[in-house]
Amino acid sequence: MDKVISLDPNEITSRQLHGYLLASVAPRPIAFVSTIDKAGNINLSPFSFFNVFSANPPVAIFSPARSARDNSTKHTYDNVNQVPEAVINLVNYSMIEQVSLASTAFPKSVNEFVKSGLTAVNSDTVSPPRVGESPVSFECKVNQIIPLGTEGGAGNLVICEVIRIHLKTEYLDASNTLQTERMDLVGRMGGNWYIRAFGDALFQISKPTDIIGRGVDQLPASVRNSTILTGSDLAKLGGLEGFPDESTLDKWKERPEIKCLLQKSHTPEEWHKLAKQMIDNQDIESGIKTLLVADELAF
Ligand SMILES: Cc1cc2nc3c(=O)[nH]c(=O)nc-3n(C[C@H](O)[C@H](O)[C@H](O)COP(=O)(O)O)c2cc1C
Repeated sequence: MDKVISLDPNEITSRQLHGYLLASVAPRPIAFVSTIDKAGNINLSPFSFFNVFSANPPVAIFSPARSARDNSTKHTYDNVNQVPEAVINLVNYSMIEQVSLASTAFPKSVNEFVKSGLTAVNSDTVSPPRVGESPVSFECKVNQIIPLGTEGGAGNLVICEVIRIHLKTEYLDASNTLQTERMDLVGRMGGNWYIRAFGDALFQISKPTDIIGRGVDQLPASVRNSTILTGSDLAKLGGLEGFPDESTLDKWKERPEIKCLLQKSHTPEEWHKLAKQMIDNQDIESGIKTLLVADELAF
């Protein structure tokens, strides 16, 4: 078992707690939110306490927290209480320095569109403008605001219903599907760390929606207890709907590389290494056949 420390949130400083929460729940998407007050002053600020929670109705929530320093509320929070509208703009890498600049604690009536040099584009259905540079913007009406506490650090859930969506066509394919992998979106992590959803950071896993996998628990003990296969390898094998039968395995034993191993291998590791190569190449069927042949050998 790996060593862990276990903490009671009440027994550490709020600074430490904030650090642990934000470094752990990461990467977080960033809502770059424009709002307006009763007098018409526009505000633009980033919030990474943010996600989408429902598609029907379409609902996104972000949380401007009370200041841990002086318990003051964010201008964004004050604005949505006065005018219950917001535009949630998504953030990609080319904008992130301007987003960071817009998070500066400028005085109340300062328009961060101006300070950050970003383009304010009139919205269709709400009064705050959207960010012209954003790959995607959601015009929202604010349905509810739920304060989570009254002390410094307390979040305020701003529950937003999306009423209009703007998508940059450069990220759409011919059927208007949004190509998330091309957007170069940015996430926030702990401390000063950010992440780009780009290049090698991206990978795909097919959704296990069409089949019901057998599960890792149904794999033979020799496979489950392998010193070569990882938890991910076992999960790929456990995702198979069925395991090959005897006659399939007999045919598999005729394959040159399997025949060769049958003649000379005396260790399960050699079999598992070959199976792992197959699994790494996403050939899970060959991997399970190889592992089941090895299992029959009962080393
Ligand atoms: C990327 C990023 C994410 C942020 N996320 C949050 C957040 O989720 N909640 C929050 O209260 N402050 C967050 N902040 C800090 C606010 O943006 C900052 O306090 C800002 O000045 C608030 O502006 P306002 O008072 O004009 O609303 C974040 C800052 C950055 C740079």
